[in-house]
Amino acid sequence: MNAPPIIALTSFASNPHPHPPITHNVHPHRHHYYRPRRPLTTTLLQTPTPLDNEVLINNLYTASTPLDLHQADGGLLVTHPQVLGDGVAGRVVAVGPTATRLKVGDYVFGFTWRTQKEKAFQDLVCAPEFLVARVVDAGVEEGNGEGQGKGEVQEGINERLKALVTVPNNFVSAWHALVTDLGIALSWPIPKFDENEDRTKTILVWGGSGSVGQYALQILRAYGYQNVYATASKRNAELVRECGAKGVFDYSDPHVVEAIVKELGTVDLVLDCIGHLSGTLAPISRIAKAGARVAVMLPVIVRDAAEGVKPEFAMDPSSVVRWEEGVEVRDVRTHFYLENAMHREMLQPVIMPELVRRGIVKPNRQRVVEGRTMVERAEKALGLLRGKGLSGERAVWKVSDVEARDLGWDGEVDER
Ligand SMILES: NC(=O)c1ccc[n+]([C@@H]2O[C@H](COP(=O)([O-])OP(=O)(O)OC[C@H]3O[C@@H](n4cnc5c(N)ncnc54)[C@H](OP(=O)(O)O)[C@@H]3O)[C@@H](O)[C@H]2O)c1
Repeated sequence: MNAPPIIALTSFASNPHPHPPITHNVHPHRHHYYRPRRPLTTTLLQTPTPLDNEVLINNLYTASTPLDLHQADGGLLVTHPQVLGDGVAGRVVAVGPTATRLKVGDYVFGFTWRTQKEKAFQDLVCAPEFLVARVVDAGVEEGNGEGQGKGEVQEGINERLKALVTVPNNFVSAWHALVTDLGIALSWPIPKFDENEDRTKTILVWGGSGSVGQYALQILRAYGYQNVYATASKRNAELVRECGAKGVFDYSDPHVVEAIVKELGTVDLVLDCIGHLSGTLAPISRIAKAGARVAVMLPVIVRDAAEGVKPEFAMDPSSVVRWEEGVEVRDVRTHFYLENAMHREMLQPVIMPELVRRGIVKPNRQRVVEGRTMVERAEKALGLLRGKGLSGERAVWKVSDVEARDLGWDGEVDER
């Protein structure tokens, strides 16, 4: 890892709309904080023109995830310099020629990660329509400003964007892991519970208070699974029950394995929502017996990131601990979720906002991170992750200091 990771501030030169110069953004600059790894820096990128069914989004909010830390501190699966982030919540400012679902002015939220132009930590994110949902479909009234101050309407939407941006990456991760790795059929629309023959299976969600864990529990409850248990710290036991766990075990209890085996007996399916060598794989490998299936969120963390400590990862959970013969161990890779055609067409644009609108899936709690600049907020959020300062919540922060209006968007909605 030679060059530092970067946060991109897209350049405005090729933006279709004229706009006033944004002086504090036009010069790339570096912030020097004390950190063992290299500090984040900003850079200017060319504003992409949306092609085909792509849309250009003025990204207002993001939620930092452990993957950002794995990449910034551990260089996981990236070549630096790299734009970070994969959660967007903002406003469409331009659409490609074949985009049909979205129009200029729509507020959207989504999980976008595949290329640099899709990455979230930049003013303008360019992604295809199928990677984002409309906030109105999640039950958020955008309002037309009539009868209310425009500022109030904007404030209301901003609050909702902060909540919604916690959903996409880990809702998709949880869904994908349940379907692809644990073999749970999640058809759409949700079938009647009594049609679901599997709903009495015993499922253990290890790490139920994490972001992935909360969404996995809420999805399983929506599909009628009755015997879903979780691990969490004592302080989050109630949160995890509210998400749908029938019982909660404190993972810091030195006798947690014995307590789980005593109460549950045979466990059919385990979702390891954390993926930690000593913290999760070691205990789960003592619980899972022949016939069980275990899905593990990659990477397996062998050594945690910390101030002055480079993290270490493993990518094969089946070989890093000893499993009983007959246990099937799967490694979860959400980045392949688009290989399922139904997921590609439906998961983010339709299913995700509908479940939020119906209150079936509630966003994670938010810890809003303030800071003078984009890079300061991003660094603070990484610091919270590095210091394990988040519990049952997501670090959410304002990305763009530049609003669509300042980019030249004049407020007229493209009526197609
Ligand atoms: N491969 C993939 O496709 C994929 C997709 C998504 C995420 N991931 C990975 O999955 C991991 C979790 O992501 P996330 O966003 O859900 O994390 P997160 O929300 O930041 O996780 C924080 C939570 O983890 C819990 N926790 C920590 N150690 C634990 C342990 N030993 N046992 C049980 N719970 C523990 C803590 O619970 P308490 O506060 O209750 O103590 C804390 O609330 C990350 O490494 C991420 O990169 C992988």
